[in-house]
Amino acid sequence: MITIHELRSKYIEFFKSKDHVEISGKSLIPENDPSVLFTTAGMHPLVPYLLGEPHPAGKRLTDYQKCIRTGDIEEVGDEAHLTFFEMLGNWSLGDYFKKESIAFSWEFLTSPRWLALDPRMISVTVFAGDENAPRDETSAEAWKALGVPADRVAYLPAGDNWWAAGPVGPCGPDTEIFYWTGEGLPPAGSNKGSDPKRWMEIWNNVFMEFNRVDERTLVRLPAQNVDTGMGLERTVAMLQGKKSVYETEAFTPIFEALESLSGKKYGAPGNDAELDRSFRIVADHVRTATFILGDPKAVLPSNVGAGYVLRRIIRRAVRHGRKLGIEGAFLSAPAERVVENYAAPYPELVENRARIVEELRREEEKFLETLVKGEHEFAKILPNLLKNPMKVMSGRMAFKLYDTYGFPIELTEELATENGLKVDRAEFDEAYKKHQELSRAGSEQTFKGGLADHSEISTKYHSVTHLLHKALKIVLGDHVAQKGSNINAERVRFDFSHPAPMTKEEIAKVEAIVNEQIARDLPVSMEMMSLDEAKAAGAIALFGEKYESVVKVYTMGDFSKEVCGGPHVARTGLIGSFHIQKEQSSSAGVRRIYGVIA
Ligand code: SER
Repeated sequence: MITIHELRSKYIEFFKSKDHVEISGKSLIPENDPSVLFTTAGMHPLVPYLLGEPHPAGKRLTDYQKCIRTGDIEEVGDEAHLTFFEMLGNWSLGDYFKKESIAFSWEFLTSPRWLALDPRMISVTVFAGDENAPRDETSAEAWKALGVPADRVAYLPAGDNWWAAGPVGPCGPDTEIFYWTGEGLPPAGSNKGSDPKRWMEIWNNVFMEFNRVDERTLVRLPAQNVDTGMGLERTVAMLQGKKSVYETEAFTPIFEALESLSGKKYGAPGNDAELDRSFRIVADHVRTATFILGDPKAVLPSNVGAGYVLRRIIRRAVRHGRKLGIEGAFLSAPAERVVENYAAPYPELVENRARIVEELRREEEKFLETLVKGEHEFAKILPNLLKNPMKVMSGRMAFKLYDTYGFPIELTEELATENGLKVDRAEFDEAYKKHQELSRAGSEQTFKGGLADHSEISTKYHSVTHLLHKALKIVLGDHVAQKGSNINAERVRFDFSHPAPMTKEEIAKVEAIVNEQIARDLPVSMEMMSLDEAKAAGAIALFGEKYESVVKVYTMGDFSKEVCGGPHVARTGLIGSFHIQKEQSSSAGVRRIYGVIA
């Protein structure tokens, strides 16, 4: 039975044998792309090259890539969703196209030398055609030439067989490969079109020859490219005949750790569905948190951006750990199992083991304190709450727990439910909204950047980062590009491309420019526009990619304009004074600045 580690290695080995260069090892934190928090697909780091930039490693590339999708963390917990997953991919940048790509896939899947899957268990789909591109007979013919029966080839519309990274950017028709998950062999004539539930996708070969410029405009890319992606965990679960990714060795070591901590068993007969759900949530989240903290460009838990996502993931894991009956900080044990399990493909986890364990513990302890305080307060008010004849806890009261003790509303709701009460959620939401409006109206006005919670100080750091970025460009030159940034309540850490250490004079100049912009008390404004419009307006946004239909552009007076999710202060004068504490090397050609505001 093939394991995730075997499939990963075989895939790379196969494409190397077909003259592909391996480019694995990209960070989970996208470089130079302020529009997304994490790398979301294997092809994500390839976008500039699909758009036409030459790739230094050549035209045939392959990799395994760590990805994170946290669209809605609160939804994770069923048997299929993961916040972290690996994607295997191979690319042709204007080299081979449909026929060869399909032949490679078929050989890898069915050849006895490689996966040796039974060809009868495979069906495919191709693009049915519309106003953008014709019916994809080339792909259909390529499949049939390899021996795939005509009735296993389904022609499906754009909803199924057109792939795009986002509302704009490289895109094109695709051909998708499915594996039969029903009993025995698939019936004659069955395919994805006729039986969508039992045919599960294992591979997606996208023929990227178009670039969507805006809603109405589709242009041809300079080259005909291939972008394929295979979700590792999902495919292995299917090949192993498992009903869920959680039953593969990507998760079994984590469950073992959780079982010995909790004394309960995942998936034991008689388990409450909610208990197994909590097991999955903790297992998924601890794996994701371990990969974020183990990344060479790790972010730490904070109240902004990727750090905020990490904080939510860790806190949710803690909450569900408690539902498993685990008290105290516990995440380092399952995290260690993740590190061991993935040590070979991801040596960075071993290198950063101390940071992973340390940061998990720190965040858990902080959150546990909040929980204890909140629970204590809840217990104090409970006798009064129980007197309510409607068994409703007012939203105002729930808001007070949130506002005063940082106690999450989900927890208040859980405690309420345990005691036969309901929380007036509408009233809570209203109080929460009003609170946000009030803080907007105050002198420390901020723009919300889609974050439910962020601290004032982080917002100031976020805003000063824009001033710093621009000041560095002015003092050192236009080659300066942001390579990473991380904020917590104490400092900003900013990485940027620059070949040499900064001199004392350069540092002083940058500081002076930033402080001058603060003294000018520039108004900060935000506008939504397409990435092209943002670039045309001169906004800093380095990669030609994005995943939202519109981006936010933050403008600070006449000084800086950057694509960014926010939040920011309303005027630069609110930032305070800025000081560069340290300037050092980060990696080859990249410098790192630590800055503080007072
Ligand atoms: N871009 C496609 C996907 O992410 C294939 O890599 O599914």
